[in-house]
Formats: sequence, C-alpha cells, structure tokens
Amino acid sequence: MPECDLGFGLGLRTPHLRHVLTHWPQVDWFELISENFLDSGGYPRYALDRIAERYPVVMHGVSLSIGSTDPLDRDYLGRLRHLATATGARWVSDHICWTGVAGLNTHDLLPVPFTEESLAHMVRRVRTVQDFLERPLVLENPSSYAEFTGSVMSEWEFVSRLAAESGCGLLLDVNNVYVSSVNHGFDPEAYVRALPHDRVVQIHLAGHTHLGTHVVDTHDQPVADPVWRLYRLATSLTGPVATLLEWDDHIPPFPELLDELAKARRYTGAARDERARVLCG
Ligand SMILES: [Fe+2]
Repeated sequence: MPECDLGFGLGLRTPHLRHVLTHWPQVDWFELISENFLDSGGYPRYALDRIAERYPVVMHGVSLSIGSTDPLDRDYLGRLRHLATATGARWVSDHICWTGVAGLNTHDLLPVPFTEESLAHMVRRVRTVQDFLERPLVLENPSSYAEFTGSVMSEWEFVSRLAAESGCGLLLDVNNVYVSSVNHGFDPEAYVRALPHDRVVQIHLAGHTHLGTHVVDTHDQPVADPVWRLYRLATSLTGPVATLLEWDDHIPPFPELLDELAKARRYTGAARDERARVLCG
C-alpha cells in the first residue's frame, strides 16, 4: 500500500486555483478530479503543474466503471497513467460502481450487485487496471439509493473481499457510509468496524442533505455530526490516514474550507487519544 498519512487535504476545485497559486495555503495535500485535467491545457493545467510542484497530489476519477461488463477503456487508462506520471500523483482512485454499459455513459456512480460473480469480475478488472497503471488502484465505497435483490453479501463484506482478493487499497468515504446506512437501514458503525483497516489508504469527508425519508450525497454543506462521529471511529481503527474534505456545490470561499478541515484535525486528535486508550489500557 502507498504511504497513507498525507495529513489533511482538500479537493482542488477550479474556483480556487487562483487563490491557491496566490496564497499557497496551509493544506497538506490536494486531490484532483482526474477527468478535469485529462485533456486540459491553458490556465487550469498550468495551475495544476505549479500546485503539484509544491504539494502532494492524488488523482480521483469518476469514469473507470470498474463494475461494468463493457471492456476497460484503454485509451482512458493511458491518459490516467500519463497524468499520474506528470503530476507525481501518490495514488489513483475511483469508485466501486459502474457508470454505463453498451458504450453508454450515464455519468452516475451506479451500485453493483454484491454477488460472487460480480466480485470475481471486479477482482479481475482491478488487477488489469493496476498492471496497466503500474501503481495501486484505490477504490471508494459509493453512496447508494437502491440495492439489488440478488445480492448475497453485505456491502462491507464485498468491499473487504474486493480489497483482499485484488490487492487494491480502500478509500473510505464515511459520509457515503452514513448516507447509505440511512437509505438502506444498516448500522454504519458495524460497516466501519468490519473493514480491513490496514487497507484504508484515504478517507473522504463531505456534507449531505437529509430529506426525512432518505439522505442525498450532495457535497454542498458542512460535514454533519453523525459523519464526524463515524470519522472519529474510523480513524481510531485505521490510525492516521490521508483525510480529504470534498465540497462540490455551493462551494464556499477557500478560508471556510480550511475551517471545516481544521475540525478533522481536532477529531483525529480525539481519535488518537481513544486509540491509545484501547491499545495501552
Ligand atoms: Fe467521496
């Protein structure tokens, strides 16, 4: 597994590029959305290259479609590898999902069935992608709003076995765990406790919208209290790992993002104390 404790990072979003290049803020690292820079030139690519010189960066994609039955897109993989090399990305991540089939792209992160057949299919594809990229692939648990009646195992069992059998790392999105736990009625803490904690390379934090009957993964507001509690539990189990705050809609000024990220540092401090109590008595 790659070096996991990059500290506390932010998603690199276009409205903040000039701010970062002007102020060089106290952020430990940045995560970029791969697709935003695969074909980019001009100012965005200039800014990314400067930022990658000063900060560790990680690439996060939304188009791999690792769960689809369509052939892997080798042209896309080649461009990912090229960008990873150019920016010195510490790792490349995507989601445990499929985004389309028969050449159609829905641009949605769709849930996969948790079956033996689906697992074997994804394990094969993860190995192929890792060989092609020549670096570990890190996969994220997505939020979901529907489940397959044909699933034969829990999501956390599927995720754990995928990591064990393919060798991939895990990006644990604690907000996604919370969102799905409300939508599907499972215990989010049981999910976090069941994962192989030594495979968790990165953690995502984000805000959501609670609509009463269900929760939507909107990334448009501060992190909710139950998600902070889940984060504290997760880091008490994983130890310090790279933590990233995602914010994709109604994006606030950069200093507000830093304030929200500062909360993660405080929760990690509390989790570290908790971990010491558990380990040392
Ligand atoms: Fe995420």
